[in-house]
Amino acid sequence: PPDLAGRDCLTVSAFSPEEVQGLIRHAYWLKEQKKAGKHYAPLTDKTLAMIFDKSSTRTRVSFETGMAQLGGHALALNRQELQLGRGESVEDTARILSGYVDAVLIRTFQHELVEQLAENASIPIINGLTDLHHPCQAFADVMTLAELKPGRDDLRLAYVGDGNNVLHSLAEAAALTGIELVAATPPGYEPDAAIWQQAQALASTTGARLHLTHDPREAVADADAVYTDVWASMGQEAEKEKRQRDFDGFIVDASLMNFARSDAVFLHCLPAYRGLEVAAEVMDGPQSVVFQQAENRLHVQKALLVSLLVGNG
Ligand code: CP
Ligand code: NVA
Repeated sequence: PPDLAGRDCLTVSAFSPEEVQGLIRHAYWLKEQKKAGKHYAPLTDKTLAMIFDKSSTRTRVSFETGMAQLGGHALALNRQELQLGRGESVEDTARILSGYVDAVLIRTFQHELVEQLAENASIPIINGLTDLHHPCQAFADVMTLAELKPGRDDLRLAYVGDGNNVLHSLAEAAALTGIELVAATPPGYEPDAAIWQQAQALASTTGARLHLTHDPREAVADADAVYTDVWASMGQEAEKEKRQRDFDGFIVDASLMNFARSDAVFLHCLPAYRGLEVAAEVMDGPQSVVFQQAENRLHVQKALLVSLLVGNG
């Protein structure tokens, strides 16, 4: 595993291209070990605390089982059951947890809260999704692409939908791994300008290219992979109907997939809403690799946990 001992994982851009490649390589190895039924327990006696301020299926279950498979332990908490929910400060919570556990995974709204936790904790903090970033998802996404399209240094990835946390982390991961990304969003739903600019700057160091458009067909043209995510993220429930109107024409259906390469795959971080951002014919069709993508969350996060908690020592 890459030696990331003691580091945090708040954004993809905190890592170098070599570190991301190292994580992916270790994830493949862990995946093979698991399929072969081999025991590997480098995290014996290590504990991960997980704080969830939003719902989760994949992140919650893959981190908890990942810790168990590596010989460690995870405990899932939420704000309501912590004194954090009754006004204990993030700073104090960070110091207290640092005395008990070996790392904290947090899923919450404000990205700044995770930064604050990281500043005040002496242990690794892992971002399990904020309103701005979803790094663990993006690691699984680039792992899945490399697995399905091995040896390609000219991959073209289309993202169709909201300029949200998933796109932000995907853009950073594409930039670091040399993937060309074309993202189509409706006007007014572009990614955060500062994050996009930073991803562009990273891309210029690796030869990757990132483009924005408002035309889903332009994004999908000749793509090797087509990615979408929900139109209304967690916390945006009140905007659901307005968003459904504003995203008219952005459904990934078979006719849109026809603009991609004939061997293109379909990706989605999940949960998916059939009939909104993706048609059932695509989600459940032969090009869909979403369940492999979801499974890879487990493997790449195990690689991340080993790297942050023990490094290569
Ligand atoms: N993709 C993802 O993070 O899923 P959960 O919200 O179920 O964790
Ligand atoms: N953009 C979505 C991703 C869910 C995994 C959200 O933040 O709700």
